[in-house]
Amino acid sequence: MQVNVYEKYWMWGAGVLVALFVGALLWSAGAHAIHPPSHVETIDPTKVAEHPEFGNPGVITKADGGLEVVITIKMYSFAPAEIRVPRGKPVTFRITSSDVIHGFQIVRTNANTMVIPGYVSQFSMTFQWPGEYLIVCNEFCGLGHHLMQAKLIVEEAA
Ligand code: CUA
Repeated sequence: MQVNVYEKYWMWGAGVLVALFVGALLWSAGAHAIHPPSHVETIDPTKVAEHPEFGNPGVITKADGGLEVVITIKMYSFAPAEIRVPRGKPVTFRITSSDVIHGFQIVRTNANTMVIPGYVSQFSMTFQWPGEYLIVCNEFCGLGHHLMQAKLIVEEAA
């Protein structure tokens, strides 16, 4: 079969683009640990304040020694507003919203998730560098969106 030379250029061009896009996906998944959300857990967003876990947000040491950070978000604040975790220890974040969709991003790390009312967002991280990190909301949630921030302090293990 005879394929016109210009047709060949287009076919090769499209093929190269597809390879680039797939490569970009694999690269971001591998090099930057960017993954789709994988945790599905529901919660009644109107009863967050009375919820046994989310009604009392903070850093919790589990029976097995694991660290959990429970966070509730509403317009326009994070609770708790200051989180302290040790360096080099895996920490599981569990986050929910009692009003609208917010974002939860720890700047200078790859911790970044949407927080949707009715759902619990969860991810685990180990922080390697001690210091102060800014936490921001990165989903526009209303007039006070730009004021939403909290602080993560990664402490050198004692
Ligand atoms: Cu909460 Cu923007």
